[in-house]
Amino acid sequence: MKIDELELKSDAVFAPIAGFSEVGLRALCAELGAGLTYTEMVSAKGLMYGNEHTEDLLHTTEYEKVRAVQLFGSDPEILARAAESRELGKFDIVDINMGCPVKKIVSNNEGSALLKNPSLASDIVRAVRRSGKPVTVKFRIGFEKNSRTGVDFARYMQDAGAAAVTVHGRTREQFYEGTADWDYIAEVVQAVDIPVIANGDVFSKEDYIKIKAHTGAAGVMIARGALGHPQIFSEITGTPCPYATVQDIALKHIDVLASFHSDIYVVNNMKKQIACYCKGLRGGKQLKLDVFKARNVAELKEIVKESAVLSVPALGQKTREGQR
Ligand SMILES: Cc1cc2nc3c(=O)[nH]c(=O)nc-3n(C[C@H](O)[C@H](O)[C@H](O)COP(=O)(O)O)c2cc1C
Repeated sequence: MKIDELELKSDAVFAPIAGFSEVGLRALCAELGAGLTYTEMVSAKGLMYGNEHTEDLLHTTEYEKVRAVQLFGSDPEILARAAESRELGKFDIVDINMGCPVKKIVSNNEGSALLKNPSLASDIVRAVRRSGKPVTVKFRIGFEKNSRTGVDFARYMQDAGAAAVTVHGRTREQFYEGTADWDYIAEVVQAVDIPVIANGDVFSKEDYIKIKAHTGAAGVMIARGALGHPQIFSEITGTPCPYATVQDIALKHIDVLASFHSDIYVVNNMKKQIACYCKGLRGGKQLKLDVFKARNVAELKEIVKESAVLSVPALGQKTREGQR
């Protein structure tokens, strides 16, 4: 799959996930086969006004060969200046969030609110293109449950110069409920010439094969299916997995994070990531409790090493959400 001139090593991509798509998990997904990784959504305003937490979201590693930063905002000028900023210099692609359903974001005319304002959304894409980087847009199939506007919206984005779009097959009103509408994603694929990345409910290699066949999309984005399970990219792409067990993956995750962040940041972040690694595994509850006692990275690693919970094979585990 290609986005403008950028050739991706695979068409399976790792999603922006607020609170989870940090540098450690992105590094693992990329190492294990993801052709593209996204930061979680980053406030363009926060970036421009020097919010100290924003920089924490922007670390990258050599594992990520093609890197996308996801920005949110509603002011074309601020978004364009953010895209041109020195801080984003290491990113190859700028993605704009036009799908976030959260009330606080929508009430600021950001995220999925832009679905209702294709003219402003187009202005944003045109302005951000000034950065010279390919601009991609991630959006949902519509705002209200019964009004699917994603096909028209995708055409607007293409006309404004977007290099690719990602379509999450749910409306804003659905949040994360129900199933993603792959039929509608197929309609979007038919409607535009730029690459479409299909997103929603991919939890296994079988799901990946099905969504590609169903939609004809150029790429597949995986979010929840990679939480606690970055090896899904190895299963999908056949990229060798150098980790024998889930424990090895979790330890690598801690090491990458610790090379960028303070002990307190790593410990706090890994509490939720380890809860994901434990999901569906026998004894997971106890490990989650034990991790809460860790006061620093050394203690955290010791707890993970001593626990038998995660010492299951990295590959070949049944996926947690079941199959579609
Ligand atoms: C906790 C959480 C945080 C998310 N944060 C973002 C985000 O920052 N930006 C974004 O575009 N989508 C975000 N999403 C949406 C996902 O990227 C994805 O579109 C959605 O989960 C559907 O894909 P999946 O079925 O593979 O999980 C988030 C989803 C979840 C569950």
